[in-house]
Amino acid sequence: MKNPYHISVLVKESIEKLITDKNGIYIDATFGGGGHSHAILNRLDQKATLIAMDQDIDAVKRNLIKDKRFHLFHTNFIHIEDILKKKQIEKVSGILVDLGPSYFQITNPKRGFSNQLNCMLDMRMNQESNYSAKHIINEYSKNQLSQLFQKYGEFNNAKEIANKILKKRIKKEIITTFDLKNIFFIKGSSKSKKRFFARLFQSIRIEVNNEINLFQDFLFKSKNIISPGGRMAIISYHSIEDRIAKFFFKNRMFFMKKNDISRFSFKMIHKKVIKPSVPEIKKNPRSRSAKLRVAEKQI
Ligand SMILES: C[S@@+](CC[C@H](N)C(=O)[O-])C[C@H]1O[C@@H](n2cnc3c(N)ncnc32)[C@H](O)[C@@H]1O
Repeated sequence: MKNPYHISVLVKESIEKLITDKNGIYIDATFGGGGHSHAILNRLDQKATLIAMDQDIDAVKRNLIKDKRFHLFHTNFIHIEDILKKKQIEKVSGILVDLGPSYFQITNPKRGFSNQLNCMLDMRMNQESNYSAKHIINEYSKNQLSQLFQKYGEFNNAKEIANKILKKRIKKEIITTFDLKNIFFIKGSSKSKKRFFARLFQSIRIEVNNEINLFQDFLFKSKNIISPGGRMAIISYHSIEDRIAKFFFKNRMFFMKKNDISRFSFKMIHKKVIKPSVPEIKKNPRSRSAKLRVAEKQI
């Protein structure tokens, strides 16, 4: 499906592995431009159901799929249990989650995600949320800022970065993406500058959308929703998310902090993490950091 909203990543690889029952119930937890939903519906038979969700109202409004098997909700995937209750569904055959922002979100100057465009610092995937990037950059304490740069940007000099922001914002509120960029003078090649700003902006975006905590909570809920023999496919775009997916599927007990002592029961259905092919990366360079992991729920 051609949709300028987003260029879907690892579609064939993820959908082929996700679907085990052509008349089953599936969830696309991150609808975006609907490329994965469209591909799922194409492989399913007439009795199947696909529930999709996205927290971004723009994604929902621009939906192009009209199909009686398809139901789209404007919600955060953390509310997956409520949505299923509404549809009187208890268990599903598969869940797909394709994390990160959509092409539309990144390239739309009104959304304030990109460090390449001079626009208001925003980065909210859910436009109804109270916490934008501008709020975080101007209101967070030095400690909070430094923690988020260290945790989500994996910066060794997180304190120094936070300090520079504090020094600037005492004089003048930091409003735009370029206000933020102009605080930093990065020595070195244009590649290292690009890398610095990509990491800086990514760490702020993760905080704005509470991406890591919500993803963990979502996995936690999902494991009870998938039927034995059903599958979960996760496409991630940075090492923190991929590490979570990997540990989750390996049944590592770091999720114990959530006080869940039940045995986890997923088994990876492929040995190595799946990455986009060279032709896919050539066609869509943004896909280069994508990693796919698919696992099957055991009995
Ligand atoms: C990479 S895009 C998905 C693209 C989609 N698979 C496609 O083929 O077009 C990610 C989408 O997930 C949405 N999203 C991210 N986190 C979410 C969450 N916690 N709940 C609901 N939607 C979320 C974003 O708003 C964005 O539209």
